[in-house]
Amino acid sequence: MESMSDTIPVQVTQEPTSSKVVDPELETTADMTCIVTDQSRVENEEIDFEDYLRASFSYDKSGRIPVCVEQIIEKIPQDCAILDAGCGTGNYMIPLANCGKVKSYIGMDVNEGMLYHARKKARTLRSNESITTDVTTLAGSLLEDLPFGDNVFDVVLLNQVLPHIADLRVFDKFKYISQMFKEFNRILKPGGLLSINTCTHDQLSAVWYNNAMPEACEMLKTRTPEIDELKELIEKAGFSDFSFSKDNEPLQGENYWRYELCFTESYRSGDAIWSLVGDEEYGKAMMSMKYGLREERDTFDSIAHSTIEKTGHTTQIFCTRV
Ligand SMILES: C[S@@+](CC[C@H](N)C(=O)[O-])C[C@H]1O[C@@H](n2cnc3c(N)ncnc32)[C@H](O)[C@@H]1O
Repeated sequence: MESMSDTIPVQVTQEPTSSKVVDPELETTADMTCIVTDQSRVENEEIDFEDYLRASFSYDKSGRIPVCVEQIIEKIPQDCAILDAGCGTGNYMIPLANCGKVKSYIGMDVNEGMLYHARKKARTLRSNESITTDVTTLAGSLLEDLPFGDNVFDVVLLNQVLPHIADLRVFDKFKYISQMFKEFNRILKPGGLLSINTCTHDQLSAVWYNNAMPEACEMLKTRTPEIDELKELIEKAGFSDFSFSKDNEPLQGENYWRYELCFTESYRSGDAIWSLVGDEEYGKAMMSMKYGLREERDTFDSIAHSTIEKTGHTTQIFCTRV
């Protein structure tokens, strides 16, 4: 078995705990010693609202795609070291490892279910001799100090993770988000790139099924910093040279427009909103969707398209570490 420091190109500074991540698919290719402490698991469960262990079974089947990945590839420097913070099932890993610009990629996530799928992708990439990117997965929490030295990464990615880091238990609900950006600043090299994909509140409202679940949508907005506030938090952590662009590609790709899929659990595991909806609102939403799709499909379809055309689906942010 390799030790973790043999497999991770960037120095891990935190002492791993003794708990092992047992991955039956992984055989003995790497020692996935887990750095997520029991305390961080408890903290994460208290703060996050989504059962990612359950969602991980069908997250990829929901159609999730790595939105804005072409923009990201264009922007990253040649031979870069990337941290994909909250990598989930590793959907950005494959295009990044294939693009010929990435020297090393570390996908870090707190959830073992999501990591299980990321590790499978990492193993497939490692077995492909034409891929030169050093690909690693790591169990770790963004609520804690990151287990890396100072100035080691060229790029940090944070894709669709922000609502999961908001802490609604306390007055300063974005305190962990601020801390996380400070940690990103510390581990990035001067001039390093921070790339964030998130949704504005308008973009959340424009998602066709969110429209049918206004209470859940409000809860998601409460957890998602609006762009001005987000920019302020990132600036305070020592970043500048911001660019913001709207992107029209849905997070579920073409599946987004296959409305009937919302009646399947695998589709719903691809978007956090479904974890926030109460029983009553869920029942009403399902009935109105069924009715709308059966009786007024054209109107339904034209509203779904026109709202998204106005707002876009997601917002891609780039900025650099001062
Ligand atoms: C919506 S998914 C996005 C996954 C991936 N970035 C993508 O775009 O497909 C959010 C991810 O954030 C992870 N996450 C939530 N809280 C976290 C934390 N405290 N530390 C690390 N990852 C976390 C979840 O486990 C989940 O995989």
